Amino acid sequence: MRIPLDRQSLIPLYKQIENYLRDNILSGSLEADTRLPATRAMAKDLGVSRITVQNAYMDLESEGLIYNREGSGAYVMPALSLPKRGVKSETAWPLWQQDLKTDVLSPRFSPQVLNPSHPDLIAFTGVGDPQHFPLRDFYKALQTVIRTEGIDALVYGEFDGGYPPLRETIAHVLASQGIQADPGQVLITSGSQQALSLVCQVLLKPGDAIVVEDPTYNFALELFRSLDFKIVGVPVDKGGMQVELLESLLQQRHPSLIYTIPNFQNPTGACLSGVRRRQLVALADCYDVPILEDDFAGDLRYDGRAQPALKALDTVGNVIYVGTFSKMLMPGLRIGYLVADGPVFDALVDCKRVHDLTTSNLLQRTLNVYVSVGRYQSHLRRSSRIYRQRRDAMLDAIREHLPEDVLVYPPDGGLFIWMRLPGGLSATDLLSLALQKGVSYAPGAWFTLDPQDGERYLRLNFATQPLERIRKGIRRLGAALRRCMVPQV
Ligand SMILES: Cc1ncc(COP(=O)(O)O)c(C=O)c1O
Repeated sequence: MRIPLDRQSLIPLYKQIENYLRDNILSGSLEADTRLPATRAMAKDLGVSRITVQNAYMDLESEGLIYNREGSGAYVMPALSLPKRGVKSETAWPLWQQDLKTDVLSPRFSPQVLNPSHPDLIAFTGVGDPQHFPLRDFYKALQTVIRTEGIDALVYGEFDGGYPPLRETIAHVLASQGIQADPGQVLITSGSQQALSLVCQVLLKPGDAIVVEDPTYNFALELFRSLDFKIVGVPVDKGGMQVELLESLLQQRHPSLIYTIPNFQNPTGACLSGVRRRQLVALADCYDVPILEDDFAGDLRYDGRAQPALKALDTVGNVIYVGTFSKMLMPGLRIGYLVADGPVFDALVDCKRVHDLTTSNLLQRTLNVYVSVGRYQSHLRRSSRIYRQRRDAMLDAIREHLPEDVLVYPPDGGLFIWMRLPGGLSATDLLSLALQKGVSYAPGAWFTLDPQDGERYLRLNFATQPLERIRKGIRRLGAALRRCMVPQV
């Protein structure tokens, strides 16, 4: 038997033999009643002492994985009597596993929504509509890259910011939105989620305070909680974060970062007003606090005039701007970016390199081909047209099928409609009924600092379903709501 042994390892040789045999027994590679080599033969084969092998066999026998037949040697225990992988009792795991903190992901995050069982579920969750992913064009771009760039596209890419032509393309796109970014200040990340994580790791330590809108993007909250930050919420209204309330918080809580989603905020769809944008940038400057501007869907505007990005208003290097190709293009690309000025940029580049070396070189190059031949702009125009119709269809269906006292916040763009249920109703409770009727949404409690505050709210994604299913889904939601509102006897 060939057992790979690492003689430099701190794990004793007998443990390595034992681990190897255990893995093979539990995975079934060593079948029941297989005779293991005699200890003397195994010791000779592996170049270890016989006592080393005996120790390994003794441990496996005491775990019930092997048994001894008088005078014949050691055999693998039949499967029925073997402990199964993954069904160990809690105390059977090594101590470090037993002590592991596993409750980072909030328990209010109901897995039902992610793994629904209804055969025809209309999910008002997720991001864009996968049916509209530009599959063919992206495939062509991928072919072009492999044909023309070959091996260069398949080695590690640049470690110091990402693929230079893509950084330039992003800087051009941003310039068209009023953000003057030097390509050298653009860092490509693995989705914008990684950009958020990098900024947190570089600027904050456990126990530091971070200001967020309340409610806010649930996975940002999960990230901040997992890093043990003190999360300070500022309420949101139609004009975005209520910046008027911020100054006293800056004075009392001394946050190390302000995280904001100024455009079509997740989950409320609110846009930060122009006046508040200027106030926010000025306050951050005055109190020397960096701003993390998450512009996850700023391009998806259907009505009204675009407001300047905070980054465009920042003259001192206080704002770190984060963008993504997930919402306008495809989340599976996992390509996002950040723009930062000053020493923090180098710190972010280093942090990124330390944690995942680079974002996929092949995909960065493919994305660059796709974006620079202008297909991206036409895809964006098309998506905006379709999503706008869907938003309108959902608002109409809500008016038609939901009770009048449901309050909706119509957004000017983005992906989400935020809704308040009539008094006393809980969106978390409603969800199980809605799932039975075949429709799902994200309950408000996922997004608020105190889950109780979000109970009456829910977030509907209008972008993922075609018009007919939007109407059908809202009808189903109406039916679930009416069931919920019937007084229980
Ligand atoms: C507000 C916001 N920021 C960031 C992200 C992360 O997106 P990605 O990592 O796919 O770029 C999301 C995803 O839904 C989001 O809603």
